[in-house]
Amino acid sequence: MKTPVHIAVTGAAGNISYSLLFRLAAGDLLGPDQPVILHLLEIPPAMKALQGVVMELSDCAAPLLHRVEITDDPYKAFKKADYAFLVGARPRGAGMERKDLLVVNAEIFSVQGKALNEVANRNVKVLVTGNPANTNALIALRNAPDLRPENFSAMSRLDHNRALSQLAEKCGVLSKEVKNVIVWGNHSATQYPDLHHAEVKGANALSVVDYEWFTDEFIPKVQQRGTEIINARGQSSAASAANAAVDQMRDWALGTPEDNWVSMGIPSDGSYGIEQGLVYSFPVRVTNGEISVVKGLDINDFSLRNMRATEAELKEEREIIKNLL
Ligand code: NAD
Ligand code: LMR
Repeated sequence: MKTPVHIAVTGAAGNISYSLLFRLAAGDLLGPDQPVILHLLEIPPAMKALQGVVMELSDCAAPLLHRVEITDDPYKAFKKADYAFLVGARPRGAGMERKDLLVVNAEIFSVQGKALNEVANRNVKVLVTGNPANTNALIALRNAPDLRPENFSAMSRLDHNRALSQLAEKCGVLSKEVKNVIVWGNHSATQYPDLHHAEVKGANALSVVDYEWFTDEFIPKVQQRGTEIINARGQSSAASAANAAVDQMRDWALGTPEDNWVSMGIPSDGSYGIEQGLVYSFPVRVTNGEISVVKGLDINDFSLRNMRATEAELKEEREIIKNLL
C-alpha cells in the first residue's frame, strides 16, 4: 500500500460533495491501492450537516479511507493538501447566469487562494468547481503567488462530457467511441463546444453529422445544459458535476491517453491568441502531472469568432473582480 494522500474538499456538506466524497473514499480518483485522508471544509452553519456526512463516510467502512478531518478554517483544511477540490460556493437558481454569482462567491476564492499559498503541498493540484469557475480559479491563483499558476485549473470537464454524450447519442455510438471534442473558453453560456477535430469511430465528426445540427442544435444544447438541468431538477447538477470533478482531477494526476485529449480550464499560455493568464478552457494532454495545450489545430473563422466571444466574457468577468487580483 502507498502512503496516504491528503485531499481537501470545500463545501463538503453541499450537494456536489454528497456525491464526490463517496467516490473519493472508494478510490475512484487514484485507484484501489491509494489510501486517502480527507480534509473537509465548511462554514460554521453547515458543520452539523457535515458531521452527518462524516458518519455516513464512516458507515461505508471504505478500506482506503484512513482519516476524515473537518474544519471551518481553510488554513487547517489545506494543510499539506496534495489535491484540493474547491466546490464550496453559492449555486445559481432559475433565471440566473453563472456570472451573477461572481460578487457573492469571489471573496471565498481570494481567502482560499491565500490559505493554499501558505499551507498546501507545493505540488498541490487545485480544481475549482464553484461558479463562475474560471474567474474563481483566476482569483485563487492570483492570491497564491508562491504556487505556480499551473497548480490551478477550472472545471470544464462537465461541458466536455456533455459534448461527448450529445455527439455519441446523435450518432448512435458509445461515448467511448467519440474522441477529441473540444470545449473552448468559459464555463458559461458563451463556451464554444467545437466538433471540427472530433472523431466518431475514427471518422471526422462533421462528416457524420450535418453542419446545421452542429451549429443550431449541438452548440446551444451543450451551452445551455446546466440551465436545462436547473429547470428540470429545481437545483443545479450535482452527481454529474462530482463525476466530472473526479474525471478532470484523475486525468490531471494520472495522465491522458496518447490518442485522445480532454478540455480543461487552465491559465492561458497565449496559445491560439488567447490572452496569456486568463483561465480559459483548451484541449489539453497531461503527462507526468503537467498539462499542455494541444497545439497546431486548424481554426476556421467560425471557430475563431466563437473562441474570441468567450474570451471577451472572461475579460469582462476579470474586470468586475479586479480588486481581488
Ligand atoms: P450547495 O449549495 O449544495 O453546496 C455548497 C456548499 O458550500 C454549502 O454546503 C455551503 O455551506 C458551502 N460553502 C459556502 N461558502 C463556503 C466557504 N467559504 N468555505 C467552505 N464551504 C463553503 O452547492 P453545490 O450544488 O454543491 O454547488 C457548489 C458550486 O459548484 C456552485 O457554485 C455551483 O454553481 C458549482 N457548480 C459548478 C459546476 C461546473 O461544471 N464547474 C457544475 C455544477 C455546480
Ligand atoms: C452546470 O453546468 O451544471 C453547473 O455550472 C451548474 C449551473 O449553474 O449550471
